Amino acid sequence: MSAAPSRSATFSAAGPLSGCVAVPGDKSISHRSLMLGAIALGETVVDGLLEGEDVIATATAMRAMGATIERDGAGRWHIHGVGVGGLLQPATALDMGNSGTSTRLLMGLVASHPITATFIGDASLSKRPMARVTVPLSLMGAEFTASPGDRLPLMVRGLCPAVPIEYRLPVASAQVKSAVLLAGLNAPGITRVIEPVPTRDHSERMLRGFGADLVVEEGADGARIIALHGEAELRGQPIVVPGDPSSAAFPVVAALLVPGSDVTITNVGMNPTRAGLFDVLRAMGGSIEALNPREAGGEPVADLRVRHSVLRGIEVPPDVVPSMVDEFPILFVAAALAEGRTVMRGLEELRVKESDRIAVMARGLAACGVRLEELEDGLIIDGSGGGPIGGAGGVPTIAAELDHRIAMSFAVAGLASRHGVRIDDMAPVATSFPGFSALMASLGAIEREDAV
Ligand code: S3P
Repeated sequence: MSAAPSRSATFSAAGPLSGCVAVPGDKSISHRSLMLGAIALGETVVDGLLEGEDVIATATAMRAMGATIERDGAGRWHIHGVGVGGLLQPATALDMGNSGTSTRLLMGLVASHPITATFIGDASLSKRPMARVTVPLSLMGAEFTASPGDRLPLMVRGLCPAVPIEYRLPVASAQVKSAVLLAGLNAPGITRVIEPVPTRDHSERMLRGFGADLVVEEGADGARIIALHGEAELRGQPIVVPGDPSSAAFPVVAALLVPGSDVTITNVGMNPTRAGLFDVLRAMGGSIEALNPREAGGEPVADLRVRHSVLRGIEVPPDVVPSMVDEFPILFVAAALAEGRTVMRGLEELRVKESDRIAVMARGLAACGVRLEELEDGLIIDGSGGGPIGGAGGVPTIAAELDHRIAMSFAVAGLASRHGVRIDDMAPVATSFPGFSALMASLGAIEREDAV
């Protein structure tokens, strides 16, 4: 559950959006900074950490397992780790809130330590499947007692020494890959993860940065083979976290959709395993310029200048899905305003995110008068051709289902709507994008908080 009380709000059509803003730090990199810092020896100093609820859940859990973690001004955090193998038994259940990444990656860390931990979470997280991580981690020797359907609350009993395994990912999931690699850090010998479809590679980049012996090769079938030598010794690092492309996605699409807009978002992470949305929007005719490309903290970053554009529907190639898996809700909104038909398939993983993102987006867009067809693995959307969306009967109310990205997607839809779009609860936005409302308002967005 989001720590904040629920808060409904209506977003409505604004004049052109303009300005230059920076989005908060990358969520995936922030989680990994805290986790790797907590099991490294020496000090890790992080700049630009995302101070959202999901990442704070990771920090609280790592403290409960022995790490010293202190905040020293906005986004700057100091971590003193316990060393690989040094995690302590937490005294109470680890509350993961809304965060699937915290849960699955930490299950990997606990799996190869001689400790037992219980994971609990909010209503959304408690519905999400955990078998994808309990299956490989059981092969490594960990024991699990889960709620029906392999869900939270769930208890993990780690094994030390754990058994290193070779594991071929049955789903394209960076969380599963990372859980196995993190468990492998404290297992003797080599743990191998075979990834038929590449997913975000922050774990690999950061493990190497912390000094792990990790090699990536291409298999005969083109799969990525990641080999990690266990009983690793990690050394604390300075880390600079780039802006989260998954958060930048919202002002980017807002600027494309609102006529006359011209917006720059600075310091956006452009790792190719994350930046698929920007390529797809460009293929739809979106004007997105990557200015001043550079490297920061071992990741490519750039400033994005985005101008209002007439978008055209396309068929989105399914092989881009892993590089924009979190961005489909906002792409659906862009498609709803495009000329013609956008076909998006291969999205079955969206059904097990913070909500069933295909069903929840389809319901919400239909309430906004958008013509669409829901498929088992995607959506086909017939766009408005740039005209404002919105049902005939006034302001539609969208149920965000405790899903931050659904709430932000419909906030953007509201900016391109006839009468406004009301979101039943904006509180979950704090899990990944604290300051979303203020940032959008600074660009010229109109948000009216509803009286309770
Ligand atoms: C993440 C991986 C993705 C993504 C999530 C963050 C990560 O999940 O949806 O928001 O940090 O590894 P899957 O790996 O399950 O697709």
